[in-house]
Amino acid sequence: MKTSLADCRIIDLPKISDPRGNLTFIEGEGRHIPFAIKRAYWIYDVPGGEKRGGHAYKELHEFIIALSGSFDVVLDDGNERKVFSLNRSYFGLYVPNMVWRQLENFSTNGVTLILASTAYNPDDYIRDYEQFTKEKGWHNR
Ligand code: TYD
Repeated sequence: MKTSLADCRIIDLPKISDPRGNLTFIEGEGRHIPFAIKRAYWIYDVPGGEKRGGHAYKELHEFIIALSGSFDVVLDDGNERKVFSLNRSYFGLYVPNMVWRQLENFSTNGVTLILASTAYNPDDYIRDYEQFTKEKGWHNR
């Protein structure tokens, strides 16, 4: 599938408001996000001004949530670029494969949760932007 920024979207999650504290949950395989969750990882203790990511995945789909704090996700499909600000734990950003993504502008004490459709596989990464745009091939169609 030829993905683009049009496939990337914010997805609202259920929020069970309760005077004892709010609760949010997520289920994969089409219930809340359009893939089965194979892996979860989180990013934390990010020093001010640092950036994470800066690559695309050939196959992996992911859902990115600001569990606490805030940060920006810069998405680029080789044709256009868009910035999503994540700052609440009851919504997240769905990013399919073959979209260049970078996480930046982290607040202090933030925790970023990422749910992924595959196990960790270094061969799935595209870390060279030139190679990425070439593989997207927008201008060769
Ligand atoms: P990486 O995905 O490259 O992070 P970033 O793009 O922000 O630099 O991961 C950083 C390191 O962590 C890399 O050496 C691989 C390792 N890693 C795992 O071993 N398993 C995982 O699930 C992830 C996400 C990373």
